Amino acid sequence: MKHNKTILGLDHQNILVTGGAGFIGASLIIRLLKEMTSGQIINFDNINDYYDPKLKEYRLGLIDEAAKESSANYLFIKGNLADTNLLRGIFINYKPSIIVNLAAQESDEYAIDHPTAYIGPNIIGFFNIIEGARHSRDGHPGVQHLVYASSTSVYGDNREKTQGIPFDIDHPVSFYAATKKSNEVYAYSYSRLYGIPMTGLRLSSVYGPAGRPDTLYYSAADNWSSKRSQAIINNGSCNKDFTYIDDAVEAIIKAMQNAPSNTDENGQPAVPYALYDIGKGTTDNLTDFISTLQEELVSAGILPSDFDFEAYKEYVEAQPNILVSEKTNTKYFAEDFGFTPSTTIREGLKKFAEWYKEYNA
Ligand SMILES: NC(=O)c1ccc[n+]([C@@H]2O[C@H](COP(=O)([O-])OP(=O)(O)OC[C@H]3O[C@@H](n4cnc5c(N)ncnc54)[C@H](O)[C@@H]3O)[C@@H](O)[C@H]2O)c1
Repeated sequence: MKHNKTILGLDHQNILVTGGAGFIGASLIIRLLKEMTSGQIINFDNINDYYDPKLKEYRLGLIDEAAKESSANYLFIKGNLADTNLLRGIFINYKPSIIVNLAAQESDEYAIDHPTAYIGPNIIGFFNIIEGARHSRDGHPGVQHLVYASSTSVYGDNREKTQGIPFDIDHPVSFYAATKKSNEVYAYSYSRLYGIPMTGLRLSSVYGPAGRPDTLYYSAADNWSSKRSQAIINNGSCNKDFTYIDDAVEAIIKAMQNAPSNTDENGQPAVPYALYDIGKGTTDNLTDFISTLQEELVSAGILPSDFDFEAYKEYVEAQPNILVSEKTNTKYFAEDFGFTPSTTIREGLKKFAEWYKEYNA
């Protein structure tokens, strides 16, 4: 069943982006500042130290530069998504019309030893967002669309067995994935009960300039340039749908401007809730991804052409929480928005390597 969409556009909107000092959030805000000719963007982030906050400050600097050139207003608020009173105040004072909820504790791996870190942002924080969206509509137009980041990690053990959306996602292999799945069901229930238009995006392995240092391509660049070993999981035998950052941002911007309406294509009542995979729909083998990264690190002048990569690789078994095969179903997003990410790992890793060289100069 396809939804009708309510076209919102970007101008005149009050857009709340959570996690806007993060990798995806900062890229999204910079793009929004370029596109919007009016309206406001509120960036809400607690700049936590899960990875080096200097990188978050650097991204905020890039946003400030873009804000100077933009006709839209920009405001940064430092705060914790799990702070219910603070969130209430943001809804009352800034009256967001579109929300993009990206703030979260990520990583399947980190969740093994730090499950508690996920409760604040991914459970309480997410609840604060949907509850804020609910009350924003008490007698007011309020939030017109809530877009939130889920992850292809939700596919867990059933990835290979179930193709197409909706998949059975009852068997997550990490606690991170379990929190993302819970977001999807909380969101659906609020959308159904209170008629709030919501779109969940199951993003797949997003990478690119100013990315996350805890992910393989970035940590490999850090490790190899300091002559340290990089762990390669499952002996490199993994297939992942790597999504370049600009493609992920393009998908988010397309989705946020089109809220699912409360009717379907046949004019029948529908829950105003949509869920999509965001990825290329094809996978790259991790070994190819790593060899392309090596070539691009050499061509950007980060590592010498005779660098002995093999000496700095530590092949390790896949931990039980790692998905060794990840592929997205792009059909539904393509049908609704005419867009499928297509940047190749060669193009994307080249841009990452060039950025990495400049950032560490
Ligand atoms: N990058 C990927 O490959 C990927 C893949 C699938 C899903 N996602 C999802 O996309 C979203 C953005 O991911 P990212 O890669 O940009 O991560 P990121 O860590 O770079 O960004 C997340 C931001 O959220 C902020 N944050 C965390 N907890 C917070 C809290 N309690 N209050 C306020 N701010 C808080 C962090 O400071 C950080 O700046 C996340 O929800 C993530 O789960 C990312």
